[in-house]
Amino acid sequence: MINRIALAGCGNVGTALLEILNDKKKELDEKFGFEFKITMITDLIKGSIIDPDGLDLQKVLNAIHSTNSFEGFVKSKGSFAEMLEQSRATMLAEATPTNMETGEPGLSHIKTALGLGIHVAMTNKGPIAVAMDELTDLAKKHHAKMRYEGVIMSGTPLINMIHTGMAGCTFEKIEGILNGTTNFVLTEMENGLSYNEALEKATDMGYAETDSTMDVNGLDSAVKTSIIARILFDEKIPVESIDREGITEITVEKIENAKERGNKIKLISGIEHTKNGLHAYVSLKEIPFSHSLAGIDGATNAVTITTDNLGEVTLIGPGAGRRETGQALLADLVAMAQ
Ligand code: HSE
Repeated sequence: MINRIALAGCGNVGTALLEILNDKKKELDEKFGFEFKITMITDLIKGSIIDPDGLDLQKVLNAIHSTNSFEGFVKSKGSFAEMLEQSRATMLAEATPTNMETGEPGLSHIKTALGLGIHVAMTNKGPIAVAMDELTDLAKKHHAKMRYEGVIMSGTPLINMIHTGMAGCTFEKIEGILNGTTNFVLTEMENGLSYNEALEKATDMGYAETDSTMDVNGLDSAVKTSIIARILFDEKIPVESIDREGITEITVEKIENAKERGNKIKLISGIEHTKNGLHAYVSLKEIPFSHSLAGIDGATNAVTITTDNLGEVTLIGPGAGRRETGQALLADLVAMAQ
């Protein structure tokens, strides 16, 4: 069966997904029996293009790479639902920018798709942060699948690992680095860049959110922590009740002072049991060079999960990035097809 894929959001991550699909078309078919056509691409800036028989992916990529637009294609108009139906998509890859308060526009896209029985893979954190239960119920009701590997640690398969390889484990605590941008900024500042230079570089590399405020003020890490609380502990910890710090007050001087004490400054997120219930935090910590998280540099993320059956399991991998996050969508699309 050919999977007809609609893509919502054709910026850094969406384009990376198209590139990977184009590069690996043959391999995906041979190894996983994953055959696909891209039947719709919609983007806030570039507009919308549809072809139920499959868009010419190479031509789309050429247009994006040369003009950052869909030049040479006839643009489609209409509501998202109308376009989705016209495209005859069987799967939606949702990669629009995150809005942590409303979840929009991704939330409406996902609701529309699930309502039509279309499977959804997303990297947009907003919809999961604001409406995980509603979306899960909607997916069940319409026999559609929904996956969101890319909302935490980009393509590093944390969620898949928890749901499959760690099935049956009881979780005691989790601690780690969950935001690529801030970890990258701290590392670059250790290497001599100013805060602003480092943040600009993180944005250029495609690590930062469209609005990087939510990276640097710790909100992105808090949202991820809240989502992990649902997955690991089945507990709703609202983002507002997470003790949260960001890196906005960090200066090169503070980093240098920590270094003289043999320490590094890291933005660390975690969830642990206390006698008052679960405690979730995103906090700046000065940790010794010997600490396992001290060596996690750049946009790399890492988490250590403490369980009953496995003891401690540590997962280290990319936390942000265009292709790294495109990979999360790809893995989810292939898993849903299987
Ligand atoms: N802005 C996010 C980060 C992207 O830097 O971690 C991946 O969620």
